[in-house]
Amino acid sequence: MQIVREMSDLGPLLTSWRKSGLRIALVPTMGALHDGHLALVRAAQQEADRVIATIFVNPLQFNDKGDLDRYPRTEDADIAKLEAAGCDVVWLPRPAQLYPEGFATTVSVRGVSDRWEGAHRPGHFDGVATVVAKLFIACGPDIAIFGEKDWQQLAVIRRMAGDLGIPVTIIGHPTVRENDGLAMSSRNALLSAEDREKAIALPRALEDACQRIAAGEVVGEVLKDSLEALAAAGFGAADYLAYVDGATLEALEHYRDGGRLIAAASLGKVRLIDNIRVVSV
Ligand code: PAJ
Repeated sequence: MQIVREMSDLGPLLTSWRKSGLRIALVPTMGALHDGHLALVRAAQQEADRVIATIFVNPLQFNDKGDLDRYPRTEDADIAKLEAAGCDVVWLPRPAQLYPEGFATTVSVRGVSDRWEGAHRPGHFDGVATVVAKLFIACGPDIAIFGEKDWQQLAVIRRMAGDLGIPVTIIGHPTVRENDGLAMSSRNALLSAEDREKAIALPRALEDACQRIAAGEVVGEVLKDSLEALAAAGFGAADYLAYVDGATLEALEHYRDGGRLIAAASLGKVRLIDNIRVVSV
């Protein structure tokens, strides 16, 4: 696996791959890699001839400076994991390369960015859309893989790439979960042993709500019960728990194809997010 830091070293590699007609996949990450990230790399290998993973803790998408400072940085371990997963190139851009002196451009995706995560983390999706657009332009991948774990992020990126006409196929990868159902996340390591046990109430509440909405129950009542179940399990007040259109993220009042349950709630200081597809049986 090649470790690239300078954009100038990336260019010749990409050119030679393209000349040979190789299909290129991009897997953007912020590092602190776990099996969820590595599943994206493996899926990318199935879809393309060459896989580039990026590791960049993007300052633009942190609305809280403390959160940015606390973000785990485990570069050596990440590189070893990517190598073991068979990744071809890891690109670790320096901030000044992506955001040169005087950088003044923001990619902002109205509508789909505004609600839920967007409402709780102002500016977050502008930061995500801006950096992902830059990574797409720098790497020119045929495909790019993102996790369904961050469902709204995936919807924002699809909208952005489509709106800007960036010729890349966006692939969503199903959420990778721990054995008990908790979605893998670097934040899970911050949970106390006691809170780690409580955390499974989140996927359980979503599963339960999913079955009831699919069975035609009144959405508002189902969501109310699920919020109560989360509170009873020890979660603080949820930031949101909603049944939404999977593409626009608009709230839905009744079962509809493509609907998704999304949630964000905290245990102590650890904020967890999760979502699932609602399919009628
Ligand atoms: P990060 O949180 O490092 O996640 C990188 C990718 O891994 C994202 O596409 C995310 O959805 C995916 N991922 C995380 N946990 C997952 C899980 N349990 N199952 C499946 N996929 C999972 O998301 C970001 O970084 C950044 O916002 C980024 C897109 C890199 C832009 O800076």
